[in-house]
Amino acid sequence: PLVSMTKMLQDANKDGYAVGQFNINNLEYIQAILQAAEAEKSPVILGVSEGAGKYMGGYGVVVAMVKAVMEAQGTTVPVAIHLDHGSSFEQCAKAIHAGFTSVMIDASHDPFDENIATTAKVVELAHLNGVSVEAELGTVGGQEDDVVGDIIYANPEECKEMVERTGIDTLAPALGSVHGPYKGEPNLGFKEMEEINTIAGVPLVLHGGTGIPTKDIQKAISFGTSKINVNTENQIQQTKKVREVLAANPDMIDPRKYLGPSRDAIKDTVIGKMREFGSSNKA
Ligand code: G3H
Ligand code: ZN
Repeated sequence: PLVSMTKMLQDANKDGYAVGQFNINNLEYIQAILQAAEAEKSPVILGVSEGAGKYMGGYGVVVAMVKAVMEAQGTTVPVAIHLDHGSSFEQCAKAIHAGFTSVMIDASHDPFDENIATTAKVVELAHLNGVSVEAELGTVGGQEDDVVGDIIYANPEECKEMVERTGIDTLAPALGSVHGPYKGEPNLGFKEMEEINTIAGVPLVLHGGTGIPTKDIQKAISFGTSKINVNTENQIQQTKKVREVLAANPDMIDPRKYLGPSRDAIKDTVIGKMREFGSSNKA
């Protein structure tokens, strides 16, 4: 069923695993990720960036596609459709009205009080509609679509205050993670993560999941990380497969013949992440 992230993340938090957010770009991503979730009996979050939403023809198209694929594939595991890095109240409202079950408001580039005010407004509308809300403090490094940032660590006291003043369901404290590949090993602020986990009182989110070593993933989960976002890794594996198939078959023109195998590459990648995050057999 389509659900918000609230119970999904609370269950994960209690039970010591993380639910993966996998970003979607088109029909094949939806099919592959939902196939993986069903095969693994894992809850799953489909992440939709504003850019990807636009690419697919708008939030309404996204919701219609996801619902149709769930029905066609006989999806039984819990699925959330989540706006990733929503840039404004208006974008979050559009996603909520289109039927998204979860939104992220990323006002992390604004001053703290503005971030709080925008986030609180989103929470009010979202909760009236049974939709969960994720907010961000500090900034994730690197670039995803139009979201560009330098690494800025979240302040633990502000995290506590944000949860109290806004009623968010989950918080993404940026602690050194990066969108896209890491230059060298990631340097995550586990000391701060532990502190935030103790005082904030909500499940935490880790952005920039691509390229984080398993030992760090496990450490993050042990410090209350209940949602891990992965985007780039699926793109890398999908595109690698397309190149491979086209290089081996220079005359190939039927898109199904290269998009089909690359869809399987996404599915296999997602299955690997679900096992790593411990969400398999938790649906
Ligand atoms: O919001 C999405 C993520 O934080 C994805 O990060 O592309 O580094 O896996 P990634
Ligand atoms: Zn992110």
